[in-house]
Amino acid sequence: MDRLKDKVCLITGAASGFGREMTLLFAKEGAKVIAADYNEKILDMYRPEDGDITPVVCDVTNHEQVINTVNLARTKFGRLDVLCNNAGINNKKPYRTHEYPVEEWDQLYNVLVRGAFLVLRESLQLMLESGGGSVINTGSIGAFRATVGSTAYCSAKGAIRMMTTNAAAEYVKDNIRINSVCPGIFNTAILDGLQPDVLDALAAQVPMGKIGEPIDMAYLALFLASDESKYITGQNWLIDGGRSCM
Ligand SMILES: NC(=O)c1ccc[n+]([C@@H]2O[C@H](COP(=O)([O-])OP(=O)(O)OC[C@H]3O[C@@H](n4cnc5c(N)ncnc54)[C@H](O)[C@@H]3O)[C@@H](O)[C@H]2O)c1
Repeated sequence: MDRLKDKVCLITGAASGFGREMTLLFAKEGAKVIAADYNEKILDMYRPEDGDITPVVCDVTNHEQVINTVNLARTKFGRLDVLCNNAGINNKKPYRTHEYPVEEWDQLYNVLVRGAFLVLRESLQLMLESGGGSVINTGSIGAFRATVGSTAYCSAKGAIRMMTTNAAAEYVKDNIRINSVCPGIFNTAILDGLQPDVLDALAAQVPMGKIGEPIDMAYLALFLASDESKYITGQNWLIDGGRSCM
């Protein structure tokens, strides 16, 4: 119960799905968690019995809000040990690339790429001041293989893959490790709106025969956040029920 004892962790997209599961698991493992989301429901979704969790409203595409959120870690705890750079959205619907609405493309890149960069940028500064840290970006299996109709999402997650590798190389001498987790298909709100037959078809593509649960991803993130993974950096960790081996 103390794999992250006293580590200060910032988790974005913490009001739902992976972010919520990581928040609860990390707090259970002794972390002090700053749980950030642009959805204001973040402010009253965690209870004192969930652990040391400080909720904050933060839109990752808003630089000023990102700066304020990292400053909260600085003023409240004086350091930052772990960043889960996780907030994200998906395509509203599939489009072939030549038909992709430019506005929707920009919106996806704004959250998935620019937002992730802003949070990484400001967090790295505080990690440098703290003498090190561990960053876990949420990538996707889409950074490794095609999904027809999702060129924007897959290429944005491809950017996260190289943001991870490149930044890892830049900060390895600063005791800052940077990895990404790359989920296949998981049971989170991002799948809301899909018909049961589509969900069944997605599950059928997974060799393990089922869609993943967010806790499975949270355990991988916990390992990467903890000192147990202290010799690991610059890696993009697929977690997909075996899908990428097929
Ligand atoms: N669920 C999957 O199958 C799957 C697969 C691969 C990758 N991912 C990635 O996992 C991450 C988390 O998604 P999830 O599946 O838990 O979905 P989710 O919809 O349950 O959670 C996403 C969270 O991000 C928040 N968010 C969205 N835009 C934001 C912004 N601009 N600023 C702050 N918060 C914002 C939402 O409010 C929500 O709480 C995303 O980066 C997503 O791309 C999910």
